[in-house]
Amino acid sequence: MAIILGLESSCDETAAALVTSDRRILAHALAGQEDHHRAFGGVVPEIAARAHADMMTPLVKVALDDAGLTLDDVDAIAATAGPGLIGGVMVGLVTAKALAMAADKPLIAVNHLEGHALSPRLIDEALDFPYLLLLVSGGHCQLLRVNGVGNYDRLATTIDDAVGEAFDKSAKILGLGFPGGPAVEQAAKLGDATAVPLPRPLKGADEPHFSFAGLKSAVLRAQTSGQYRAEDIAASFQLAVTECLEDRLEYSLARIEPTKALVVAGGVAANEAVRAMLQRLADRYSMRFVAPPHWLCTDNGAMIAWAGAERFAAGLTDPLDVLARPRWPLDPKAEAVRGAGVRA
Ligand code: KG4
Ligand code: ZN
Repeated sequence: MAIILGLESSCDETAAALVTSDRRILAHALAGQEDHHRAFGGVVPEIAARAHADMMTPLVKVALDDAGLTLDDVDAIAATAGPGLIGGVMVGLVTAKALAMAADKPLIAVNHLEGHALSPRLIDEALDFPYLLLLVSGGHCQLLRVNGVGNYDRLATTIDDAVGEAFDKSAKILGLGFPGGPAVEQAAKLGDATAVPLPRPLKGADEPHFSFAGLKSAVLRAQTSGQYRAEDIAASFQLAVTECLEDRLEYSLARIEPTKALVVAGGVAANEAVRAMLQRLADRYSMRFVAPPHWLCTDNGAMIAWAGAERFAAGLTDPLDVLARPRWPLDPKAEAVRGAGVRA
């Protein structure tokens, strides 16, 4: 049994967690930065990096104290090394390097997307490779076949905005506040999803990819028309997103080698409408549906510690001069798609 310390700082969550290789979460400490960024309506990279620098070391101490452990008890130190806002990534990675050097422990550089991708295995012992993963976060919208640790086939990605980005921008347009995803979900509960006609970008298209930018623009037009309540636009938007995801997944499911499980991860996986659609889809395809609890969907340290545990078990550790990477695709073989071909 190994104990792994995991640090996360790639966006606006500073987090440190201790997880064991036999799936026990010994501690997870997290400091959000919503209050720092709210006035700007989005994450400001420089402010985020400074807040990570302020909070990272105290959070490591909190996690160790909560678990009743010292650094000596830890077997390896993992940190997000990308992709993400580079200032923040550097804070977590440099902290991990310093701790690894001081305590003479191995360092593990974790791809943040691999943290999300493997997180369902932390809570579900029966989830074996391979599985089909919908990774939906603030920065990404990808369909992946997870073959094993460090082994991914990207089957589809967004050609423009990430799905969480569409939630966040729509929330801003609708004046629903920050962070946007949960705000849109709350507002949608009070709205009529059939009230506002919105497009379904790429629905029925003969390609596997996703697109959300047009939907966001349609939300802007609906809002500026003054004809609709914000709650109705939010509900109609959430339904449109859900239907687009379903259509795109059905396209791929009809064409790929089947897997036993359909898995969702990333911040948008906390959305109940998205989860309910995926559960129905999995039932239709006789797949098991696996979704982590909400706190494990949004950014956290436990998923980085767990990815670290999986990599450690596979003998994958990194040298102290490993680089922080603003972009880091999970599947380097995947071809750039039209539109935003620069996505990780
Ligand atoms: O995975 P995550 O915490 O950070 C990234 O790696 O991007 O995902 C954050 C994204 C944000 O865009 C946020 O608005 C979205 O996940 N999100 C949600 C919900 N909770 C978080 N989107 C829709 N419904 C939610 N309940
Ligand atoms: Zn994330």
